[in-house]
Amino acid sequence: MQADPHSEATDGLAILPSPLLLIQHPLLTRYGVELWCKRDDLIHPAISGNKWRKLKYHLHYAREHGKHHLLSFGGAYSNHIHALAAAGRQSGLRTTGIIRGEVDAVSNSTLRDARRWGMDLVFVDRQSYRRRQDPDWLAQFEAPDTLIVPEGGSSPLAIPGVAELVDELPFSPDLWVLPCASGGTLAGLVAGKREREQILAIAVLKGGGFIADEVRRLYPAAATRLGWRIALDHHDGGYARFSPALWQWVQDFSAETGLPLEPIYSGKAMWGLFRELEAGRVAPGSRIVFIHTGGMQGLAGLREQRRF
Ligand SMILES: Cc1ncc(COP(=O)(O)O)c(C=O)c1O
Repeated sequence: MQADPHSEATDGLAILPSPLLLIQHPLLTRYGVELWCKRDDLIHPAISGNKWRKLKYHLHYAREHGKHHLLSFGGAYSNHIHALAAAGRQSGLRTTGIIRGEVDAVSNSTLRDARRWGMDLVFVDRQSYRRRQDPDWLAQFEAPDTLIVPEGGSSPLAIPGVAELVDELPFSPDLWVLPCASGGTLAGLVAGKREREQILAIAVLKGGGFIADEVRRLYPAAATRLGWRIALDHHDGGYARFSPALWQWVQDFSAETGLPLEPIYSGKAMWGLFRELEAGRVAPGSRIVFIHTGGMQGLAGLREQRRF
């Protein structure tokens, strides 16, 4: 019997449920909270974190609808492009990445991996890239066997894959914490969470006021579901920016707890959580689950750019 390539892509190498680890840190005792980390970064060596969860039902959809080609969008260091290339390779699907920027970026480690895994890369200037949600511009990429996956994998198809995460926990936390950018992961968690559970999403970019609208667009029931908020003031300068102080904090935290973090998503969100704790915006006694959304491949790109 032939193996099902899609279940291989989503289940074959995957570690599920992802591990749940208790984090020990003196400040947590001071703030009187319990912190667990849902290690989604360990789900899969290449399709890690929220990528695995967001892509799962895109791959199912592709299989069910005869789509043999996945096409998506991202920056030159995109975790999503990296994961999509890996998922396509494992599933036997052709992949194309529409990349914002210059062809020179092709030498970076993210895009080298994507190429090695068979992804076709198409570079577009910033002005064109801005039209990535414009149906008139997208028409040039449409084909009967092509599934166009929005940037970051954030489409309504991302919702059920993320929502499933909630049932992997052996207890119901008081508070979920996660980074957010395009909003797909948050939307999935809003869909999956139990009524009593709260969510604190840390926006990793500046001007993240639009994210709540995105969450409601991706998952309309979020408009009436209570218990989620987005903290907009922990971006530390903007998307993919971070101060030396933040990076030092992240490294110290990792050394103290043994939890690997990077400064763009997971590290910034953890830093944001501790700022929220310090500001007294998290109730003492809370049992918190922090979702490690992966993205550790991005560290290689930061190193290449001599960002640290
Ligand atoms: C590692 C990582 N964590 C978090 C996010 C943010 O997730 P979302 O775009 O679904 O808000 C991203 C970007 O998609 C990411 O690459």
